[in-house]
Amino acid sequence: MLNMSSAEVIGMKDMAAPLASGLEGVVVAETRLSEVDGERGRLTLAGHDVEELAGDGEVAFEDVCGLLWGGALPSAAEREALRGAIAEGRVRAFALLDRLGDALTARDGMDALRAAVAHLGGDAPPAAIAGAIATFAAAWSRRAAGEAPVAPDPSLRLSADYLRMARGAAASEAEARELDTYLVTVSDHGMNASTFAARVVTSTGSDAISAVVAAIGALKGPLHGGAPGPVLDMLDAIGAAAGEGGAPPPGGAERWIQAELAAGRRIMGMGHRIYRVRDPRAAVLERAIERLARTAGGARGARLALARAVERAAEAALRARHPDRPLRANVEFYTAVLLDALGLPRSLFSPTFAVGRVAGWCAHVDEQRRVGRLIRPSSRYIGGVRRRVDTPQGGLI
Ligand code: COA
Repeated sequence: MLNMSSAEVIGMKDMAAPLASGLEGVVVAETRLSEVDGERGRLTLAGHDVEELAGDGEVAFEDVCGLLWGGALPSAAEREALRGAIAEGRVRAFALLDRLGDALTARDGMDALRAAVAHLGGDAPPAAIAGAIATFAAAWSRRAAGEAPVAPDPSLRLSADYLRMARGAAASEAEARELDTYLVTVSDHGMNASTFAARVVTSTGSDAISAVVAAIGALKGPLHGGAPGPVLDMLDAIGAAAGEGGAPPPGGAERWIQAELAAGRRIMGMGHRIYRVRDPRAAVLERAIERLARTAGGARGARLALARAVERAAEAALRARHPDRPLRANVEFYTAVLLDALGLPRSLFSPTFAVGRVAGWCAHVDEQRRVGRLIRPSSRYIGGVRRRVDTPQGGLI
């Protein structure tokens, strides 16, 4: 029998220490990599405001790798060297495909990525890891669609080659630029859950691949990187009744959102742990979709109009429910619309997030190594105690 009287609950000595549920407000590291200002809606990536860095598609994924791994935007020569190293990572990863066992047959892209990355050598350098993640994600998507993986083209930058490998068709310069906008925008974001997971693993003295595998596992969750697929499902459901120009019928978005909330479900792509205003990354991605709609056309303009109408309806519904807790669009909301506009299947949205975020993960692994201290917080025991007593039967009660 368990004795649960409060006097016998051990751990009482820790009751005075404040419990930080979800580690909210707890500062666990100093970093030079990024700062998230949740009150003003600003994101700084190694000294650069995200809206300036990613705002016009001029900065490529390789540039932000140079920034996060080296502390400054690379010179032309450094960029070429990085481009070559990441391209070599793609080529080497492609050569590994036949030796990944059944990793790439997993139904979920993040499961496949986690298993495939685990095959890399423990201390693979950042460029090799970044190249491999893009190659594995694209190869998984092709196989899932019943198509053969497409070999990398090392003469291309990562964004253009990733679109080519994933879709089986060359990307236009406009498409490659907007994928760069996305990859740069999501490259790092303070002490987010996957980055923290990578730092915890690194703090034990473990290797970079173990840290990145842990990070992929954390990114998979719908509260972190798993939201954009469901955002597109939401737009599809509401848009099924959309009229000319993409606008849902009056009240259509509101009805759908209220039904979700009434069923106790969250509206994906809305809300954030840190931001109390609209996520600045949502604005960067929204502008990228606008540019793409102007240059590439198609149904992109209508889709953007629908997304904007749904965002307004979701924001109003959440404001009514939580007047004291601002719940605005986060990065995932327009990620869904942008990656869809780039012709990537929704099953590839979370793996594509990993293609960008790996830049930050690798930088944090390096930074944490320099700290050299084990991350090991405490917990408060709220279970009971069993005592050994003398009974005729003996043993524990
Ligand atoms: N839809 C509906 N309600 C939401 C919500 C959403 N997207 N986000 C938060 N809420 C509600 C919660 O239900 C909670 O209500 P309660 O106090 O009545 O229980 C309240 O707002 C506070 O939520 P909490 O879970 O404490 O916030 P958090 O800081 O832990 O969560 C997120 C942040 C991102 C996990 C959360 O906003 C969320 O789940 N969003 C949807 C998933 C998503 O888009 N993830 C991508 C993040 S970049």
